[in-house]
Amino acid sequence: MARISSAVFSSHIPAVGAAIDLGTTQNDYWAPAFKGFEFSKQWEAENTPDVIILVYNDHASAFDLRVIPTFGIGCSEQFESADEGWGPRPVPPVIGHPDLAWHIAQSVIEDDFDLTICNDFKVDHGLTVPLSLMFGKPQKWPCRVIPFMVNVVQYPPPSGRRCFALGKSLRKAVESFDENLNVQIWGTGGMSHQLQGARAGLINREWDNKFLNLLVKDPEELTKITHTEYIREAGSEGIELVMWLIARAALGAQVNEIHRFYHVPASNCALGHLILEKA
Ligand code: DHB
Ligand code: FE
Repeated sequence: MARISSAVFSSHIPAVGAAIDLGTTQNDYWAPAFKGFEFSKQWEAENTPDVIILVYNDHASAFDLRVIPTFGIGCSEQFESADEGWGPRPVPPVIGHPDLAWHIAQSVIEDDFDLTICNDFKVDHGLTVPLSLMFGKPQKWPCRVIPFMVNVVQYPPPSGRRCFALGKSLRKAVESFDENLNVQIWGTGGMSHQLQGARAGLINREWDNKFLNLLVKDPEELTKITHTEYIREAGSEGIELVMWLIARAALGAQVNEIHRFYHVPASNCALGHLILEKA
């Protein structure tokens, strides 16, 4: 049987991807941010799974106002890096796992969640930056990756409560796949940030750290956070954190905290990162 053994949570700041691509990770500004991922890269190298289910959001690269799936899963063989305005990031294509992805779609849809099956699309910084943070710059990604998208760009995004329930359904789906696969679940985006308007640049360290504590110890409590609270406390883009609730619920209740990192400044965003293992 397949099983979810661990979860990785990370911001997906595009400027972090640019620093990796341009080789500026060790300058005065970026070195402290990348220091928090030294342990993570080592841990990931020692714990590389067969498949990552990577929960992320597209930023109008693959989807735009014409079509907005609330939840989507990529079932194709391969996904290329999207051109977000300055050429595609120089990263390897993502190799999917169609058999597991289709199985998840069937299981989760039969469990009453309306997943959109998405096949022909490219993946943007929301997916590729966390991969680069955890794997560096390999010739090819060392495992398969199933893109799992959530709309947090255009209101109304799903509630944290719905995301948490979906995570539980994802766990059931993986555990009913009849192949011996080690699966990691990743939750990406966040933490507090606001990219536009009068409050652009907003960071809320206290709120973010409370979120990290609860994510480890009492994630169900986080399902009570309303959209209004996300916007007020974590800024307009802080809503990306609902994706972390999918990954956390998919891992299961009992966990061990392996690594935690929180860093400001990093572009316009509070950089948050956690690694949890199933207890
Ligand atoms: C930034 C952060 C994001 O999550 C994003 O999607 C785009 C930009 C930023 O920090 O600038
Ligand atoms: Fe984002």
